[in-house]
Amino acid sequence: MSNELAGDDPALQTNFAPADVAGALVLGIETSCDETAAAVIRRKADGTGEILSNIVRSQIEDHAAFGGVVPEIAARAHIALLDGLVRTAMDEAGVAFDDLDAVAATAGPGLIGGVIVGLMTAKAIALAADKPLVAVNHLEAHALTARLTDHVSFPYLMLLVSGGHTQFVLARGVGDYVRLGSTIDDALGEAFDKTAKLLGLAYPGGPAVERAAKTGNGSRFDLPRPLLNRPGLDMSFAGLKTAVRVAAERAAPLSDQDVADLCASFQEAAADVVSQRAGRALALFEEEYPGVEPVLVIAGGVAANQRIREGLEQAAEAVGARLVAPPPQLCTDNGAMIAWAGAERFVLGLVDELDVSPRPRWPLDATAQPMLGDGRKGAKV
Ligand code: KG4
Ligand code: ZN
Repeated sequence: MSNELAGDDPALQTNFAPADVAGALVLGIETSCDETAAAVIRRKADGTGEILSNIVRSQIEDHAAFGGVVPEIAARAHIALLDGLVRTAMDEAGVAFDDLDAVAATAGPGLIGGVIVGLMTAKAIALAADKPLVAVNHLEAHALTARLTDHVSFPYLMLLVSGGHTQFVLARGVGDYVRLGSTIDDALGEAFDKTAKLLGLAYPGGPAVERAAKTGNGSRFDLPRPLLNRPGLDMSFAGLKTAVRVAAERAAPLSDQDVADLCASFQEAAADVVSQRAGRALALFEEEYPGVEPVLVIAGGVAANQRIREGLEQAAEAVGARLVAPPPQLCTDNGAMIAWAGAERFVLGLVDELDVSPRPRWPLDATAQPMLGDGRKGAKV
């Protein structure tokens, strides 16, 4: 890691807002994948926050028959649901559009049809109520959630593990991120989903694989830990998924025990890769920021997996670091994280024009090499 990682723009290094920055009441809208969500949060002048409402409507049932998210179905569902969800979020918070300080929406990365629906809705509200618009990067919202839930200060590390992303990010300040490593092929959630599909388990695959793994023997199948011996923090999960397929074909016809053993072996391999990489990321952090308590924040649906979490806890413990895991409903896609990121940007004056464009790809770190699992949050079919 180079010294460049420490960053040099003090304006973006703010931890909590100075006392003279007033609080902010923000509506947040999330529509980048298969959750339609709206929330209202209040960011207080001292930098702490309060969730006044957080309404999430998962579309899992609409997509289950297809074994993954179908972009057109998702976009149509967002159109059908969003107005009502915004109304409910406002009512539950007990506020009117007039009371808001800003309107925030995910502007990318994500499935473009859905992103357009959310961003256009936010623009319409912002225009009608004469409020500033904040176009939020979905990945930044995941990264900043731990500041809402656990008052984490910059700098810190984040591991985002979802169906669309798997990456280690160094968060140095609002709008200031360095991607330290990423999957070079499948996202880990995608690998869980594909493993589940090929073993005949339900969608979404992550929870199904975790359930099956509980009664399985994780050392029965010797599955690869790709890239583990290479330097850096990149990861690869496509080979692991293929190895499960080959092992399953060899063991066919599969008994319930075979399926459980394959799931457990897959989970062990995934946990090994992620925790080894986390240990390395934390060591780099300590080198770069001696004396700063290393914090690793986890986000994304896969962070709900107990075995992965255990691996990360061990990696953190080994170097005296703190693992911060926001509650599962704030780790997966939701409106509160968008509203919070909107508030963090708003108090720094980082608002957007009404002609801001939706962005299907939008890496957090514009200087990083493009990677499949990075600026993308694509269809999981
Ligand atoms: O963050 P998320 O809800 O949506 C995005 O992809 O943005 O993550 C969903 C992913 C899916 O791939 C799902 O299979 C995975 O997270 N997942 C899990 C678990 N719960 C959800 N993977 C492993 N174990 C789990 N318990
Ligand atoms: Zn997400």
